[in-house]
Amino acid sequence: MSVPDPREALKRRAGERAAALVSSGMVVGLGTGSTAVFATRAIGDRLASGALRDVSGVPTSRATAEEARRVGVPLLPDDIPREVDLTIDGADEVDPALDLIKGGGGALFREKIVAQASRRLVIVVDDSKLSPALGTRHALPVEVARFGWKSQERFLESIGGRPRLRLSGGGDPYETDQGNWILDCSFGPIADASALARRLADRAGLVAHGLFCGLATEVIVAAADGIRERKRP
Ligand code: A5P
Repeated sequence: MSVPDPREALKRRAGERAAALVSSGMVVGLGTGSTAVFATRAIGDRLASGALRDVSGVPTSRATAEEARRVGVPLLPDDIPREVDLTIDGADEVDPALDLIKGGGGALFREKIVAQASRRLVIVVDDSKLSPALGTRHALPVEVARFGWKSQERFLESIGGRPRLRLSGGGDPYETDQGNWILDCSFGPIADASALARRLADRAGLVAHGLFCGLATEVIVAAADGIRERKRP
């Protein structure tokens, strides 16, 4: 008999709590990863039971689109024709200002587009993701074009990072939904995440980075002793 994983239970609670924020008629951004998937499934359940109707989803990855179709959440076309009312997504690290590192699941490019198109971004995590400073617990995922990727590696080293090319299970470079590669770049605790974000955004060939500063409006944290909700002032 398999032993239930307590982290999975926490992820489910956070995801389901966020799914309860969805109302009929909303356009909802559907995040990627092992926590956000519980929100997508709960939205599917609420649609199936009739508790919700007329919800349209905007998936942040091909994997999420597939899951949304499987659980019966209708999807909007890729051009995101309307502002997104509410997006529910996971994170790899959350700091006290509610800034985030995302992209552990490789979906950072679409996740940021959907986050920036959203009125409200609700992040769902278990308490292992809380951190005093971004970069303390997780390397920063940086999506790079294949052309000239080695020069991005050198650039990241020149600004104090230790980049490592992400590999897939088979040992080949991991490929994002856009066909790009990812450098997971360890910085250690990042003193000024917004300044680093601006520096990275300026670099050609660097397609996306996992620093999400000033985007999360609230964070739902599931811990063994219950759920806490934190809102950006
Ligand atoms: C996907 O690219 C990521 O941004 C995820 O949202 C993040 O890695 C959190 O994933 P888990 O909920 O699986 O930890």
